[in-house]
Amino acid sequence: MPIRNTLERWGSVAKFFHWAIVVLVVTQFVLAFIAEDLPLGMQKLAVLARHKSVGITILALATLRLLWRAANRNPQLPAAMAGWERLGARAAHALLYALLFAVPLAGWIMSSAKNFPVSWFGLFQLPDLVAPSEATFDIAKEAHEVLAFTLGGVATLHLLAALKHHFVNRDTVLRRMLPFARVPVVLGLLAASGFFAGDTLAAAPVAGTWTGNAASGRLEFQFRQAGAATSGAFGQFTVTLVTAADGAPVRLAVAVDTASIGTKDKDRDGLLRSADLFDTGKFPRAVFEASRIKHTADGHYEASGTLTIRDQAHAVTLPFLLTAPAANAAGWQIAGELPIKRLDYGVGQGEWRSTEMVDDAVTVSWSVLLSPAR
Ligand code: HEM
Ligand code: HEM
Repeated sequence: MPIRNTLERWGSVAKFFHWAIVVLVVTQFVLAFIAEDLPLGMQKLAVLARHKSVGITILALATLRLLWRAANRNPQLPAAMAGWERLGARAAHALLYALLFAVPLAGWIMSSAKNFPVSWFGLFQLPDLVAPSEATFDIAKEAHEVLAFTLGGVATLHLLAALKHHFVNRDTVLRRMLPFARVPVVLGLLAASGFFAGDTLAAAPVAGTWTGNAASGRLEFQFRQAGAATSGAFGQFTVTLVTAADGAPVRLAVAVDTASIGTKDKDRDGLLRSADLFDTGKFPRAVFEASRIKHTADGHYEASGTLTIRDQAHAVTLPFLLTAPAANAAGWQIAGELPIKRLDYGVGQGEWRSTEMVDDAVTVSWSVLLSPAR
């Protein structure tokens, strides 16, 4: 399993952090409830000491997790999600991260306030965060309890949302976070029928022509400018996919309206349209066309074809992920990522041929929902 994330799935490090923290948070509730029922004594102290050590571990893992997240790209949400759903997902994730810090910090402050210094599995002692004080202890204890139950509540909604993605929307959101390829089998037992409908092509024999455009997806590109990661998107493009009777993709075409380029800066967009870069007046379209498509793994394909930008055409192998339409979904979800070199296509004439300020490497990424062509 690849270590790093892509725009389509989580890498093994991000998955490890997610699931290790889930297991430890569940452990925390179990230990807290065990401790609650014990009378004050050696055993209660021992259980609480374990609870504190595990809690500090969560704090450390959450810190590392956010650092790793900042150093990586992260998967995009499915194009089919509505604006409010995206907002809800982002808000819930931000709240979960915040609580992963707030709950253990409140616990740590509570322990310091009670003058019960915190040790990490008896190996080393942590500094006290506050001076001993009955009043601070009472507030921190209340805060720890309320925040912990808020974490439990938000995590439960988050779990329900993940299940909705899988069983109702039938998208890849849950699958791309699961730790092992075999875990879906376990979930499959819960919903024996139709569990794999989301990605088994044979289950959806749909021959025909399917199209999508900027209204149903995104076509973006990432590049480095003056050493900083920068991105942009095309506002107009069409994707056309032809599938055979067994549902296998046989032809793929992507046509991009070059003048629709946008990088959220008018001056730079004007420059990108000029003769030195895309020369959109003379070359209004960039096109990828493939009629040789190889199945590489479950839902994964490679389209061998030609990419033409400006007047330069090159043979390109475009990997993509295709999710078959489920009974209740509008169509195929197609997504992929392609690293290219801009200078191979002449995007950079005159002084822009230099890679000093703008790297040669550009990553194109896309995710589009395809519906039957009319
Ligand atoms: C994500 C991490 C944590 C979670 C989910 C968690 C959760 C909980 C829960 C649910 C309780 C029972 C609340 C109640 O009914 O009063 C509790 C109690 C407690 N927690 Fe945590 N906790 C975490 C981290 C920590 C840390 C890092 C410390 C200290 C360093 C800590 C110290 C305590 C103590 C001392 C109690 C017992 C409070 C009392 O009843 O006197 N917790 N925790
Ligand atoms: C203590 C419990 C949990 C916490 C604190 C938690 C926290 C998080 C956070 C913060 C993210 C956002 C990741 C990011 O954007 O960096 C996330 C993603 C995710 N979580 Fe959880 N989670 C918990 C439990 C669960 C459970 C039980 C499930 C599923 C059954 C689940 C499924 C997912 C999935 C599928 C994603 C990926 C969403 C995407 O790909 O856009 N989580 N989780």
